[in-house]
Parts: sequence; C-alpha cells; structure tokens
Amino acid sequence: MILYFSGTGNTRLCAEYLAKVLGQQAIELTQSRLVIPNVVKDKVNDNMIIWMFPIYSWGLPPVVIKYIKKSRLLTPPDTIHHMVATCGDDAGNADHMWRKAMRQMGYMAGRAFTVLMPNTYVLMKGFDIDTPEVANLKISNAPQKLDYIADELTNNPRGHQAQDDYTRGRWAWLKTTIIYPWFTSRGHGVNPKKFHVKSTCIACGKCSCECPMGNIYVRDKQHPIWTSNCAMCLRCLHSCPVGAITYGSDHSLPQKQQLPPSL
Ligand SMILES: Cc1cc2nc3c(=O)[nH]c(=O)nc-3n(C[C@H](O)[C@H](O)[C@H](O)COP(=O)(O)O)c2cc1C
Ligand code: SF4
Ligand code: SF4
Repeated sequence: MILYFSGTGNTRLCAEYLAKVLGQQAIELTQSRLVIPNVVKDKVNDNMIIWMFPIYSWGLPPVVIKYIKKSRLLTPPDTIHHMVATCGDDAGNADHMWRKAMRQMGYMAGRAFTVLMPNTYVLMKGFDIDTPEVANLKISNAPQKLDYIADELTNNPRGHQAQDDYTRGRWAWLKTTIIYPWFTSRGHGVNPKKFHVKSTCIACGKCSCECPMGNIYVRDKQHPIWTSNCAMCLRCLHSCPVGAITYGSDHSLPQKQQLPPSL
C-alpha cells in the first residue's frame, strides 16, 4: 500500500504511477487524516507500506510527521516500510528524520528513494526555480526512476543488502538539523498570514476547495481569508486559475512554476 501526501501534484503523479506499476492501492493523506488530532487507525493487509511525500526544507512536511505519529497501522507482523520522496533538488537528511519517526512508531524502515520533480517553492527571491524546460525534463525523466524503484521493491522487497537511491546534496546535516527547524517554525518558510489576493480574484473558491487543511474561507463570494492551520504546501497559490494570489509585501512574488498536468 502507498500512503502519500502531495501539495501541488508532483507526489500524487508519482504515487499514482508507482501504484499502477506495482499493482498497489495508493491512499492520499487528506484533511480527514491530517487535521483531526486523534489517533488514526487503519487495518492494512499488505506487508509493504510505501510512504510518499514532498521534501520541505530538507526534511519531511511537518503534517506528515504528525500523521506518522498519530497513525496506528494494524499490519502483518513482518511489514516493512519504504519512503519515496519527491524533491526539486536535494533532500538533505530527510531520510534520517523519516527513519526516526518509523522507529518511534515501532515500524520497520527499509529503503529511501528520491525522485526529482519541478521545484514548487517559489516564495523566496534567489531560490532555485526551474525554467519550463528543466521542469518538463524532470517530469519526463520521473517514470524511468519510478520504474527502477518498482523493480527494486518487487525483486528485493525487504531491501536486503541494497543501497538507497537518494539525492542527499551538500551540507545535508546543516540543512536538515539547523535550517529545517527555523523554516518550519513561526511561518519563516511559509506564513499563511502573508497570502494576499489581487483585485483580479474572481472569488471562485478553488483555493479553498484545494487546501488540504481546510485553512481558507471564501464566504458569500468574497475574497479568500487564510487562517493559521497551514501545511506549507502552496497548493492554494499554484491552483488559482487567474494567478491572483501573492505573498508578502513584495507583490512580484511568486513566479509561476510549471507543474504536472494533474492539478
Ligand atoms: C515549502 C517547500 C519547501 C521545499 N523545500 C525543498 C527542499 O528543501 N529541497 C528540494 O529539493 N525541494 C524542496 N521543495 C520542492 C518540493 O519538494 C518539490 O517540488 C516536490 O516535488 C513538491 O511535491 P508536491 O507537488 O507533491 O507537493 C520545497 C517545496 C515547498 C513547497
Ligand atoms: S482560487 Fe484565486 S480566483 Fe479563486 S477565490 Fe482563490 S484567489 Fe480568488
Ligand atoms: S493555506 Fe495554502 S499553503 Fe497552506 S495548507 Fe492550505 S493550500 Fe497549502
């Protein structure tokens, strides 16, 4: 079984592809599992679980860590867990973070993989945003990597003596241990209070419907209002059909990013 979280569609595309190749079920972590504070119990018959998510600031999206910690997966005793993360460039030591969460839950961690996809973090100037050519190249190369991952997991499901295929990048310790906690706290990386709408907003409500956290309200065909329960996913921003959402005081942001057609 594949359990996945996707902000802007990259991970969804990869999860659906992998599910098809492996003949497995893919379940999206949506509001019903992410927002409620209670333990979430699921009975699973498979003895392999694949966790899929985007990389946020060289770590796991905080909502995914929270979900792992409140999950109670009732699985066969020999169940092994693998992770497949999508990232724009590199994932730092996110695999260590995932393994720690698995250990804390008593889940057996297997292999870690990364798949390069278009970079969706568009809120800071100077950050590496892909040109349409680079984004398209990443999307067209992804199936080859996913086929490789599917082969590896089919031929060696428990990952005996197999190495991870994982893009760690440079200064991984610094990025995951020092920058990640700063980025994910107090809205340093994504602060929902900083989203604004331009007068071009047509009050269609798509941003509100798309938000995986139910964090956006559009009342009586008025402009949207953001509250504080944000997953940092930027789905609202990327899904607005008229590009009416801006961020911070600099309204030249964000630059538009080329995304998979699924969104
Ligand atoms: C808040 C945020 C932080 C990100 N941080 C990283 C990062 O540290 N390294 C990286 O390679 N990509 C980073 N990205 C890019 C995403 O990991 C990448 O685009 C991913 O494929 C998005 O998947 P999704 O469309 O399923 O949300 C970040 C994206 C967001 C929104
Ligand atoms: S998706 Fe865009 S146009 Fe529609 S309500 Fe949200 S901001 Fe306005
Ligand atoms: S408010 Fe926007 S960035 Fe925050 S969780 Fe909702 S869709 Fe994602």
